[in-house]
Amino acid sequence: MNELLSLSRAARLAGVTRAEIQKRIRHGEMQTFEGQVAISDLLRVYPSVSLEKSGDLERVEQIKADALPRSHDEDTRLPSQDVLITRIKALAEALVQRVARVEDLEQLLDEIRDRLDEMSCKSREADATDASPNETPQDLSVWLQARRAALAETAVEAAQTQLLAKDSFLRIMSASVKMIPSGHEFFVDGNESILEAAVRSGLRLNYGCASGNCGECKARLITGEVYRLREHDYVLSEREKQMGYLLTCSHTAVTDLQLEAAEAHSPADLPEQEIQAHIRKLEPQDEGLMLVHVQTPRTNTLRFMAGQRARLRLTDGPEQELPIASCPCNGRNLLFSVRRGDDAFSKAVFETLSARQSVTLTGPYGDFVLAEDATEPAVFIALGDGIAPVKSLIEHAVSIDSIEAFHLYWSVPALQMHYHQPWCRALRDTLDNFAYTPLVDAACDDLLALLESDLEDLKTARYYVAGPSSAIEAVAEVLSRAGVASERIATERLD
Ligand code: FES
Repeated sequence: MNELLSLSRAARLAGVTRAEIQKRIRHGEMQTFEGQVAISDLLRVYPSVSLEKSGDLERVEQIKADALPRSHDEDTRLPSQDVLITRIKALAEALVQRVARVEDLEQLLDEIRDRLDEMSCKSREADATDASPNETPQDLSVWLQARRAALAETAVEAAQTQLLAKDSFLRIMSASVKMIPSGHEFFVDGNESILEAAVRSGLRLNYGCASGNCGECKARLITGEVYRLREHDYVLSEREKQMGYLLTCSHTAVTDLQLEAAEAHSPADLPEQEIQAHIRKLEPQDEGLMLVHVQTPRTNTLRFMAGQRARLRLTDGPEQELPIASCPCNGRNLLFSVRRGDDAFSKAVFETLSARQSVTLTGPYGDFVLAEDATEPAVFIALGDGIAPVKSLIEHAVSIDSIEAFHLYWSVPALQMHYHQPWCRALRDTLDNFAYTPLVDAACDDLLALLESDLEDLKTARYYVAGPSSAIEAVAEVLSRAGVASERIATERLD
């Protein structure tokens, strides 16, 4: 019963981040076997893993609520969601006990067969030598009784049973998908499409319309079972169907899957897009800053990498390229910040722009993105309005859950300019591996002193610095003086 679990599944069961499990492995506290961890190891490191305490029930209950097909909402023949969840949980526990029992009995059958082979061998030898065989059927019966009693005593440990039951329970509510060749993993919850789950998890799968028309989201199913959520207009050829191709925007996962699909690895892999979108909300902040929320049509979301920019063109002409301050995991709702100034674009934003007005969005642009598959600690240094692209990077880092630890330093000229302070604090309070240091008008040497006291080793972290050019150069200069290699420093200049 010492089963192996993928890192994502182990993290979900233990209620910690995947990065936390990776850290334990790096520190030698847990072992991996081809990228998986043993349940016994997980229980040793997290002895308090428990279904009741984890809050999964509430989460799963929500997923279930979202997942129930509309037509069933009113179906009074179905028990309530609470009843269903309780029954599934009980069934999962019973199933684990039965599986353990079957495994024990299979082991016993093997032992009986070996013993019978041995008896028949000794019996032949006894016939040949005229001696009496030294084990009788009565001996076998006594041995069998003793073995059964011993097996009953060594029933699967309660903690292990509970963990396996929890895993079975979660498998009912969500399936994991492993991408080939990248090895990236994510969960499909409830009845969301494979594409929706991948985007929500921060993966960069190819897609276009997200509604079954363009075929851009085509992927090949290697193992597992899928379910078609909706009819799609795009027609797959017979040969493609035979090879296992499907549209990820129109299918969900029934079981755990292995899927072969193209992923974007760098900004160059993403096409430039032009989308007619609209202003969803305008939020004026102190100190002459406007947060501009833009929403794209449901079937035409912007594919971009965290930290990139897009160009916003207003209906009456003015346009500007701006950092996107939101996560690509929600490519439909984009956030920009615009500082009050004398240029036509800024004037239009502050004086004439209003909610529901249409805008043209083009992009993405820029290469201020997270280092591909990097897991080492990341340090984000936002200088003034450099918080915009940094916010996008951090939200993406949280959604892909592969960075061991991250620290945000946000320096502004005046205290009241920390307009994303609630977001920073919420992250700090929610994530064990996130630290936040607000700074006001910090000198570079003070920043370096802080970094030296906060980080174990300055040279092994990755740095993402955004803000005005002159400030960035000063920070990059102190980092390189401290011995940080230039390829570990990514910068985004906002002027
Ligand atoms: S994204 Fe267009 S068909 Fe799936």
